[in-house]
Amino acid sequence: MPQIFPKRANVLPTVSLFGLVGGGIVSVLLVWYYFSPEYTDVGYAPEQPVPYSHAFHVGELGLQCQYCHSNVEVSAHANIPPTQTCMNCHGQIKTDSQKLLPVRESWSTDEPIEWINVHMLPDYARFSHAVHVNNGVACETCHGRVDQMEVVSQVEPLSMGWCLECHRQPELYIRPNEEVTTMGYTQPADFVERNLERIADDNIQPPTNCSACHY
Ligand code: HEC
Ligand code: HEC
Ligand code: HEC
Ligand code: HEC
Ligand code: HEC
Repeated sequence: MPQIFPKRANVLPTVSLFGLVGGGIVSVLLVWYYFSPEYTDVGYAPEQPVPYSHAFHVGELGLQCQYCHSNVEVSAHANIPPTQTCMNCHGQIKTDSQKLLPVRESWSTDEPIEWINVHMLPDYARFSHAVHVNNGVACETCHGRVDQMEVVSQVEPLSMGWCLECHRQPELYIRPNEEVTTMGYTQPADFVERNLERIADDNIQPPTNCSACHY
């Protein structure tokens, strides 16, 4: 018996979210799915396998973001540091702490610590840390006062509308590149004027077309 549908028909639903008859239904389902608190809720702050505190390590010890999130300026994803980074200090400091037991176990077994994702965009949205950080968009603008967080929580909605607010008026948000990891930044009086100048000089144009952010 000849095949009624060509084999290729099987891949249709995954080809593209947009421009297909089923697109509308798929997005409704996605919205439903991703509106579960794990994905979009401001305030999401899962308990981590180790009670690592940014408030202490950043706010008090003064460690730089890139000491641990070393890829943030060069890749789409900001990496979570490997156990080695913790052991740089905790090989000597607090070596008998119960709280650090999972770190020592990870070190001796070579199994990574299973940190839980706090911020997560749906798969159909495209995002790059490097592009933002290198164009003056600060960690603080998207993640808030991480230096004061005992437990990291999501402070911005990361919704499409939120992304677009800045993409339409970046002059209200961007900073000089050397300030992107600063926490508690105070804007100079001529903040917007300076930004407008930079936007013109560097030709900064955040995209607002669908295909820039969606596959
Ligand atoms: C000593 C290492 C270290 C330093 C320094 C550090 N972080 Fe982290 N960061 C971590 C670890 C470990 C996690 C994963 C556990 C957690 O969420 O607390 C993390 C998680 C995060 C998350 C949440 C990631 C997710 O799952 O969505 C953000 C945002 C973040 N860090 C931002 C920053 C910023 C901004 C700075 C600088 C102001 C910074 N971090 C400095 C180690 C570090
Ligand atoms: C630059 C050094 C340094 C690095 C790197 C570092 N820590 Fe720490 N950490 C400290 C110091 C100092 C303390 C406080 C020790 C004290 O209270 O006497 C501490 C305390 C802690 C504590 C509390 C321990 C307790 O019993 O109260 C935890 C948990 C912790 N760190 C986790 C981590 C994790 C996870 C990483 C890697 C992502 C990490 N630290 C990286 C220096 C560091
Ligand atoms: C324009 C907003 C924006 C800026 C600026 C930004 N982040 Fe993020 N960050 C996000 C979003 C959105 C996610 C979730 C990404 C995903 O799911 O793909 C995220 C996720 C993360 C994660 C989890 C790992 C990952 O890549 O998914 C870490 C760690 C992190 N950010 C750290 C930082 C640090 C450190 C800085 C500053 C140097 C920074 N971020 C700047 C929006 C931003
Ligand atoms: C506070 C401002 C701000 C926020 C918030 C923001 N962006 Fe951007 N975005 C920018 C700037 C500035 C650029 C750089 C434009 C340029 O390179 O000319 C950019 C560039 C981009 C690009 C183009 C990347 C490339 O390769 O050229 C994409 C895609 C993007 N942003 C997606 C997002 C998404 C998705 C979100 C929300 C989760 C978001 N942005 C939130 C300011 C922002
Ligand atoms: C600056 C990046 C950006 C641009 C430009 C953009 N989107 Fe989005 N879009 C997102 C992000 C991020 C999400 C995920 C929001 C969430 O997790 O709630 C999203 C979600 C969606 C959704 C799911 C429903 C919803 O509203 O959350 C649809 C449908 C969608 N976008 C369609 C479009 C169309 C059509 C365009 C062009 C007119 C467009 N997007 C332009 C970033 C963008």
